[in-house]
Amino acid sequence: MKLAIVNGPNLNLLGQREPEIYGTESLDDINGWIAGQSAFAEDELTFFQSNHEGAIIDFLHDRRGQIDGAVINAGALTHYSYAIRDAIAAVDYPVAEVHLSDISSREPFRQQSVIKDVCVAQITGLGKQGYVEALLKVKQELPG
Ligand code: DQA
Repeated sequence: MKLAIVNGPNLNLLGQREPEIYGTESLDDINGWIAGQSAFAEDELTFFQSNHEGAIIDFLHDRRGQIDGAVINAGALTHYSYAIRDAIAAVDYPVAEVHLSDISSREPFRQQSVIKDVCVAQITGLGKQGYVEALLKVKQELPG
């Protein structure tokens, strides 16, 4: 399967940014760890991060017909970006939502996800393991 792992705003600063919430590993550390998981040994993984809403939307659009599924940690865009929501709804592959932290137990504004309903699953609070769980949920949606 061809799968994309998409990270949104501020996730490029993982490891330096609020480590008490998001941990001490960098995004490269986490991406490398995901790529090394045996569950994805047969898969082709593509990693993308942007701090820009439009760049994320363009990435999702441009992968139509090219990938089988994606997981997205949309960062704070999760909580208010109807444009990201519409992009996920528009593409022809399943997308699962993931968050490192447990957004349901944080500030009220983080408890709402405007993308949840258009994703095949929402995984929160499992740290980097959440990306693996989200990818497995996407793979479950795919034939064969
Ligand atoms: C996050 C949670 C969001 O509320 C926050 O804006 C992030 C990271 C997470 O992975 O826990 O940037 O998506």
